[in-house]
Amino acid sequence: MHIHTLRETRATPEADIRAFTEAMSRTAAGVCIVTTNGPHGRFGLTVSSMTSVSAEPPMLLVCVNRSSVAHDAIRENGRFAINALAAHQQQIASTFAGRSPSGRHYEFNSGDWAALSGLPRLLDASAFFDCKLLSALESGSHTIFVGSVETASAGDDPALLYSERNYGYAARLGRKACPTGTDSVLERTLQ
Ligand SMILES: Cc1cc2nc3c(=O)[nH]c(=O)nc-3n(C[C@H](O)[C@H](O)[C@H](O)COP(=O)(O)O)c2cc1C
Repeated sequence: MHIHTLRETRATPEADIRAFTEAMSRTAAGVCIVTTNGPHGRFGLTVSSMTSVSAEPPMLLVCVNRSSVAHDAIRENGRFAINALAAHQQQIASTFAGRSPSGRHYEFNSGDWAALSGLPRLLDASAFFDCKLLSALESGSHTIFVGSVETASAGDDPALLYSERNYGYAARLGRKACPTGTDSVLERTLQ
């Protein structure tokens, strides 16, 4: 293992950034599309930074780059949704990361979106959370958006993962192989 000690000064930030992103690339994370809709526009953005904060009450967070077009809309609309992608939805991840092979970036015609009038919701996501924005904390280049979860839905398909700059899925978690189905979704509206 190569150990790089990050300097306290910002004299050579490139080396520090490289060491940080290289080490982060060896971790694994689920991939989500954070969506928002309202007077300040409808947007979707691929993120791997969604994390559960609390179960009682249900809260989650997502970190969004302040240079992203979705950033100000999430803050101003005061609502956002998390669509946790299923293993077969890699192309949707690319579209909402601005890397669509067809060149149509950030467009909701990639994927099967159930609702575009409210918060955009993917029909066959592995999970869906509808959130009210509770707080926004600027941190480095990003803002940490904390949301209070109002609806949580669990799908049937295993989650899409991102690690070593590649997409994949966890075949050894006792789940079925990479799915193609759009099975029913268990949904509960939280009290
Ligand atoms: C797997 C993956 C995870 C990402 N996670 C985040 C994230 O957590 N927060 C964020 O702001 N951007 C994240 N991004 C980057 C954005 O999706 C998007 O690619 C970036 O904002 C594109 O900017 P551009 O259109 O200006 O190139 C991620 C991208 C990928 C491919």
